[in-house]
Amino acid sequence: MARLSNLVLLYFTAYVGANLAYKSRPDLAVPVLNITIPATNETADGLIFYTPESTFADNTGHGPAQSGPYIYTDKGELVWSGFGYIGPRSENFQVHTYRGEQVLSIFEGSHNSPMGHGHGHTTILDNKYRLLKQIKGGGHKLADQHEFLFFDDDSALFTVYDPEIHDLTDYGATSENQQWILDNKIQKVNTDTNQVLWEWSSLDHVNPAGTNLTLQSGNAGLGVNSSQVWHYFYMNAFDVDPKSNTYLLSARSMCTIFKMDGNTGDIIWQLGGKNSDFSLGEGVDFCYQHDTRMHQKYLHHETKGSKEIISFFDNSAHENLAGGPILQTRDYSAGKVVELDTKKRTAKLIAMFRAPGDLSVRSQGNCQLLPNGNAFINWGYDGAMSEHKPDGTTIFFTKLDSGRFGPGSENYRAFKFNWHAVPHEEPAFVAFKESNGTSLYISWNGDTETTIWKFYEQKNGKEVLLGGTSKNGKEVLLGGTSKNGFETKFQTGKSPAHVVAKAYDGHGKHLVSSLVIKVKEYRSPLHY
Ligand SMILES: *[C@@H]1O[C@H](CO)[C@@H](O)[C@H](O)[C@H]1NC(C)=O
Ligand SMILES: *[C@@H]1O[C@H](CO)[C@@H](O)[C@H](O)[C@H]1NC(C)=O
Ligand SMILES: *[C@@H]1O[C@H](CO)[C@@H](O)[C@H](O)[C@H]1NC(C)=O
Ligand SMILES: *[C@@H]1O[C@H](CO)[C@@H](O)[C@H](O)[C@H]1NC(C)=O
Ligand SMILES: *[C@@H]1O[C@H](CO)[C@@H](O)[C@H](O)[C@H]1NC(C)=O
Repeated sequence: MARLSNLVLLYFTAYVGANLAYKSRPDLAVPVLNITIPATNETADGLIFYTPESTFADNTGHGPAQSGPYIYTDKGELVWSGFGYIGPRSENFQVHTYRGEQVLSIFEGSHNSPMGHGHGHTTILDNKYRLLKQIKGGGHKLADQHEFLFFDDDSALFTVYDPEIHDLTDYGATSENQQWILDNKIQKVNTDTNQVLWEWSSLDHVNPAGTNLTLQSGNAGLGVNSSQVWHYFYMNAFDVDPKSNTYLLSARSMCTIFKMDGNTGDIIWQLGGKNSDFSLGEGVDFCYQHDTRMHQKYLHHETKGSKEIISFFDNSAHENLAGGPILQTRDYSAGKVVELDTKKRTAKLIAMFRAPGDLSVRSQGNCQLLPNGNAFINWGYDGAMSEHKPDGTTIFFTKLDSGRFGPGSENYRAFKFNWHAVPHEEPAFVAFKESNGTSLYISWNGDTETTIWKFYEQKNGKEVLLGGTSKNGKEVLLGGTSKNGFETKFQTGKSPAHVVAKAYDGHGKHLVSSLVIKVKEYRSPLHY
């Protein structure tokens, strides 16, 4: 009995604290991907970047035990856990080139559910996972989570969700309390000083009368206070072409994609919604979309002359904030690539990516076109990610399933990037004495470069500097093994007292040495 209750206790403590997937990092409780279509040899190179979180309230046991930014391989293996680096809520985890180096950007802040407005800043880490800078809103405005891009090496762009007091009688306000509207802004700030260089305001350029989600519907906030603000526009994505200084804006509540001139702030054209400048070809129509992107090229299509290539994630579904069934304009969501002819005012679907069995995603989601023409899709609220060939064939599919109590992970955006990093932290290393030798476990959070780990006995006890390096000690090779996932295990028949490990890359270059550690002894079987 005592034994059973201990086990039960262990089970629950483990769930709350850590899932003990890794002996070298017992502090980590990492999400476990449920991969139902394993990556084929046609998936693009790269690692998966995502920020899983629970769709349920805190402490209900659903969703990831440790939400945060994560890097995984498409085999489902952890590369980096950003839990504890960033918090309490992170979104939109991406790789950028900034001042000639690969860097990471991660929104960190809070999120007002169910309105979905973020308040925080974007944290930039270098390719050793060190804090490079934090980019914040200027002019006493908080940055929102939905978009972050570098404009150039000196400036960055992000969304600002700015509640304003406004006379809403023209838009159907029936009470004096209904006077809060959300002005969706883009700020451009200097990345060194955080000074605001430019700002765009949706209210200055887009009439709220064109919205699909009216004030009285209650589906975009009733406008009664600054958190129940009416989000007639809901800019959940923008893209920028710094050369032409033009922007592509996603207005989710308007089911509209806008092209905007960054010099004047004027709208150049609008696609979809109530006032479309284009006739939409078969399958183009969309609503409540996310992640609008401009592309120079896709397959044999090119942005040239009057042709423009764009992509987006078409939810065709929206949560019902007024209560009742989900708002749906189609019974499935899809990633879409569209070719526009701005002279003929036509829009043609050139690629579409649907989930196996189809998913209708009420919020979040994104569609990333990869350099080889594949698409990487994140199914937002439905907690799944997939990769597709240009013809739509699914060549990878995973549910974000980490809960022992059932489903409940969602994810705003996910990406596949080529990313190379050597962490500034030392590796995490533990060794245990066994009856027939020693088992050693090593991990190096975020490392992408190690191919071989070598393990050494650290001799000359007096010289051994525990938790440090030993200059005078003698190292005797115990053996080596290929890096095997996040944590690599090595077994030896020998029984050294102190050990050290060293990492080597594919060219045989030494990358790091662990601290010298003492081999641990234990009496009862380890409960990992
Ligand atoms: C993985 O997903 C499949 C399909 O949704 C489901 O049947 C299965 O139970 C899941 N596995 C786990 C371990 O959650
Ligand atoms: C990918 O795998 C398939 C099926 O195993 C095989 O027929 C094909 O030759 C492989 N292609 C490449 C590029 O390795
Ligand atoms: C919202 O947009 C969708 C798709 O364009 C359309 O079917 C629907 O009628 C619109 N609803 C309103 C209230 O405008
Ligand atoms: C804002 O309005 C909503 C809807 O009436 C209400 O539930 C909420 O408590 C209000 N928030 C504040 C801060 O007054
Ligand atoms: C020690 O025994 C375990 C369990 O039988 C085995 O898995 C392991 O490989 C052995 N270690 C060595 C170094 O032989």
